[in-house]
Amino acid sequence: MARSLASLAVLLLTATSAYAQTAPASYSATSPDGTIAIAVTTDSDHRVRYAITRKGKALIAPSLMGFILTDGVNMVRGWDITGAETAKGDDTWEQPWGERRYVRDHYNEITVHLRQSKEQGERMMDVHFRIFDNGVGFRYELPKQAAMTTMRIADEVTEFDIVPKGTAWWIAGGEWNRYEQVYQKTPIEAVSTAHTPITMRLEDGTHLSFHEAALVDYSAMWFKRADGQKFRTTLAPSGQGPRVVRDLPFNTPWRTIRIADDAAGLVENDLELNLNEPNKIGDVSWFKPQKYIGIWWGMIRGDWTWAEGPKHGATTERAKQYIDFAAKNGFSSVLIEGWDKGWNGNWLGTGGDFSFTKSANDFDLEAVTAYGHKKGVNIIGHHETGGNIANYEAQLEDAMKLYNRLGVPAVKTGYVADAGGIQAPCGNDPAKICMEYHDGQRQVQHHLRVVQVAAKYHIAVNAHEPVKDTGLRRTYPNWIAREGARGMEYNAWGAFANGPSHEPTLVYTRMLSGPMDFTPGILSLEGANHAPLASTLAKQLGLYLALYSPIQMAADFIESLEAHPKELAFIRQVPADWAQSHLIAGAVGEYAIFARADRNSPDWYVGGVNDATARDVDLKLDFLDAGKTYTATIYKDGEGATYLTEARHRIAYETRKVAKGDAIKLWLAPGGGGAIRLTPAK
Ligand code: NOJ
Ligand code: CA
Repeated sequence: MARSLASLAVLLLTATSAYAQTAPASYSATSPDGTIAIAVTTDSDHRVRYAITRKGKALIAPSLMGFILTDGVNMVRGWDITGAETAKGDDTWEQPWGERRYVRDHYNEITVHLRQSKEQGERMMDVHFRIFDNGVGFRYELPKQAAMTTMRIADEVTEFDIVPKGTAWWIAGGEWNRYEQVYQKTPIEAVSTAHTPITMRLEDGTHLSFHEAALVDYSAMWFKRADGQKFRTTLAPSGQGPRVVRDLPFNTPWRTIRIADDAAGLVENDLELNLNEPNKIGDVSWFKPQKYIGIWWGMIRGDWTWAEGPKHGATTERAKQYIDFAAKNGFSSVLIEGWDKGWNGNWLGTGGDFSFTKSANDFDLEAVTAYGHKKGVNIIGHHETGGNIANYEAQLEDAMKLYNRLGVPAVKTGYVADAGGIQAPCGNDPAKICMEYHDGQRQVQHHLRVVQVAAKYHIAVNAHEPVKDTGLRRTYPNWIAREGARGMEYNAWGAFANGPSHEPTLVYTRMLSGPMDFTPGILSLEGANHAPLASTLAKQLGLYLALYSPIQMAADFIESLEAHPKELAFIRQVPADWAQSHLIAGAVGEYAIFARADRNSPDWYVGGVNDATARDVDLKLDFLDAGKTYTATIYKDGEGATYLTEARHRIAYETRKVAKGDAIKLWLAPGGGGAIRLTPAK
């Protein structure tokens, strides 16, 4: 990495006082293009604040930094800036899989050293600010020091005082159903406590997203409005008192702000990935981006059960039938849920009965995996824990060993329990359980442990009811996807359960954090008791382009997939790994159309999703290679299509030749969408 440390007086840095005893000190730095500037100051009460401007206008007014500890220690007041250093970086790194192959990491950095006065305890901390052309990240570093060896954090006091007025898209932090909520759109001033990422559009059109990067051994940050447009971090609580306990030295996660002129700038932004450490697990070519089917929708809808009994979904016979279908239709894998012992019908209870090594009586794991391999199809394993991580951690090594021995290269994990309902081992007594949040420090540790043990056995992890993504896939690229939002499953449980705006909102909110196992491809467009989806048929195809994941499910029953041969052909072709991805049309919460280049062929794909308002989009094909003719295979909403009636099934197909500079006009139905494959003409 081209990284140079410069000392105090040089570049980007203005110090009004190198060691300010009483006078306010100010240190500042800018992004490489000079548009974003941060300044760090202390006031007469020796509190530290940072402020951000963009293009000369105030974006974040001076905002407080520090911590409240449980043992009466004040880490908000009494600070002096004792010095600072600058650094810069400009590097391009390659992703093993993802929305784009190459990522540029270009920033200026300033590290500010802080020390408390003798009377305040002489504690020390550093704050690192990394300033990119499209955002800012900052983190606290707590160095080894005589004044303290362990920090017991009651809460973090990092504020974000947003200056221009605007609109926010957000879900509530701390709610019982974790991240599985319908997004709210309100004035920024009407947000309560939100999960991150939280998205905002300011009156001048600036788009912001507040989030965090590299959430390791720390509690997730919730974004709590203090007053007006001023927010403060509050960390996910713990059943054990302090929200975070850490021995020094350590770093907090990065607090991140994506800053862009438009929605595309928000989406095509790798801020959090760049703030994570490079790959620590080595070669992951054993994980192949893929599409999969599963014994799943039948349980979600209630036609089959996870538990053994007359309606058991995961029978050996059905597994073989699904493997045959996968082999015939080019799916790499079959997810099988409810294969194991412990789905006692009361699994929302304690989760303590789950076995991760013993198969149900009517399911033969060895025979099924062997049958799959004979047909060139892998099984995606499943570990539902019911939130009982004490039970899971006790079996973790054996569970992964078993999958490794049987050639199961990926596992979906699950933590179905209300927020605060994670049961974790507590202290030295194995029988003692502590209750924790899905995004508290203990569960953050748990997820990483699972991913690390899985990596050892060459197994990829797709976590449901997870902690939010903070870009850790860069460091642990076997952490391939997660849920962490309201997925397709809700559509099984009620008419229009997710609503037509849901996916065009996810694109600009949840998806900013990383890949989602949304599970698209319900081609029947209905859940249980014929509950209709707020979707046209073309929208189901558009989802494969709108919501990125390196594993994409075709979630419907195989009979339903088979009944739609043209759509099935598209799903079979659409990649799950891209060389490039661009948002070519869209607005937050309204619609989103991407152009994505296949990583393994010269093909491009275009498509996406719409909300309830019908619209025409004019898609310019500027991204195609010059001088080539492409065959465009178009799947679009049929005339009169609308999610509101049976006309949701109306789809139209068209094939035509196009070249760079041409445009394709697409009409998006209410609740509609579309998808286009562009392949060089022979
Ligand atoms: C909820 C998950 O989101 C779903 O995909 C899974 O089938 C069930 N839990 C059971 O594990
Ligand atoms: Ca879920």
